[in-house]
Amino acid sequence: MPTDLTVVVLAAGGGTRMRSKTPKVLHQVAGRSMVGHVLTAVQALEPRRVVAVVGHQRELVGPHVEEQLPGVVLAVQEDQLGTGHALLVAMAAAGATSGTVVVAYGDTPLLAGESLQQFAAEHEAAQRAVSILSGVVDDPFGYGRVVRDAEGDVVAVVEEKDADADQREIREINSGIYALDAAFLADALPRIGNDNAKGEYYLTDVVHLAREAGLTVGAHVLEDVRQTEGANDRAQLAELGAELNRRILDRWMRAGVTVMDPATTWVDADVVLAQDVTLLPGVQLLGATVVGEDAVVGPDTTLKDCEIGAGARVVRTHGELAVVAQGATVGPFSYLRPGTHLGADGKIGAFVETKNARIGEGAKVPHLSYVGDAEIGEGTNIGAGTIFANYDGVAKHRTTVGRHARTGSNNTFVAPVHIGDGASTAGGTVVRRDVPPGALAVSSGPQRNIPGWAQTRRSGTPQAAAAEAAGDASHNDDPGVGDPGSAGAES
Ligand code: UD1
Ligand code: CA
Repeated sequence: MPTDLTVVVLAAGGGTRMRSKTPKVLHQVAGRSMVGHVLTAVQALEPRRVVAVVGHQRELVGPHVEEQLPGVVLAVQEDQLGTGHALLVAMAAAGATSGTVVVAYGDTPLLAGESLQQFAAEHEAAQRAVSILSGVVDDPFGYGRVVRDAEGDVVAVVEEKDADADQREIREINSGIYALDAAFLADALPRIGNDNAKGEYYLTDVVHLAREAGLTVGAHVLEDVRQTEGANDRAQLAELGAELNRRILDRWMRAGVTVMDPATTWVDADVVLAQDVTLLPGVQLLGATVVGEDAVVGPDTTLKDCEIGAGARVVRTHGELAVVAQGATVGPFSYLRPGTHLGADGKIGAFVETKNARIGEGAKVPHLSYVGDAEIGEGTNIGAGTIFANYDGVAKHRTTVGRHARTGSNNTFVAPVHIGDGASTAGGTVVRRDVPPGALAVSSGPQRNIPGWAQTRRSGTPQAAAAEAAGDASHNDDPGVGDPGSAGAES
């Protein structure tokens, strides 16, 4: 790797075709801004310094770039007078007068670090003043063409607008990525003029300036030309996003992940998957999500910044900032909100929403419940249709449930409240006071049966007729209490 290396990322342009209030280079693919991808790729060069040229909407681009890469040098280009002028501004900010300068654009999210490494190494080995990263494309329209002489030496880069008919036929294009000798640049950049079709200071003019000075110029053809493609509008953004996703999935499949349907599976750049993870159709793994060995995710699941343990199973779930420990099961139709922590071998079942909830090892919330601001001990089973009522209209409060408790169906836990270890609650209980360990809490009044009510109060209806047909109306009025063992749903 070159030892004295400066990277310059050009990101001052307007990006008007995005038609967006968000600057072009801040648009995201695979969970990262386009410029974020470029800043990640250039790290492979282990540069001594990275300079980002900002201009258009620099109040947004500048802080974003600094956040992505602390220590980056920002060079402000007030007016976008062309790529040559942009590098002039960058070199003044960098203060680098020796070594190698690698120039890249901020809108090429597929750029890979290894390609830059090879390119920079070749540049230094060939002792060139100017190396161009080029590519051969079917439709070169709009690009600068790499013009070579009979020996194949690069003699110029000619922009679309300045090219003659023969030059327009050339399919080798300038990607806009360069490796340049810093000492040469110090001399050449101030001499670039703007006498061309666009009236801009073209960085590509360094080619003829180098040749005039008797220095070497070369171009390195990158086979995988998509790496240098930029997104200028939303359609190109979507295409590059899809291509990047394919590449990410390809990488994980080679690393031992089963992706049943790559066409409907989306995995962000920073996601980490272990060997033998299975992703079923319709899965989106976003942000910093991590999935452990043998876990199965999907179908139809979105997880952002989640941690899924080994062997866990997550079905038709939406999760964010949640942790699911090893062997646990989630879904179908579960909503894991931030602060959810499901212990090993635990269960969050169908139509359950959780938030700021620690659910212990082997504990289960199987059906139709809301668990917010809660702690549930290991081995506890929460009955179907339980609401952890955490909000009194003013403040949020916590509910704690101990170990191996059994709570009945259709309960409401009015926080703050504590249900002790091994305690039970009857079906339909509204828990407003703490339940001591081992106690059974019952809050509903005794059941009252009013005999013959349908026949007298609903006479003449099918209901009354059905009751009549069933015979004797004189059932006893037993104030018995439900057995929580049968009232609580368990699975
Ligand atoms: C440039 C190249 C062209 C190449 C193409 C590849 C020149 C003269 N031409 O053309 O040979 O094929 O890129 O995409 O360099 N920028 C600034 N400040 C400026 C001007 C541009 O920061 O003053 C940045 C833009 O934000 C953009 C990049 O430089 O990221 C390229 O600028 P653009 O104007 O799009 O150059 P092209 O005309 O596409
Ligand atoms: Ca461009």
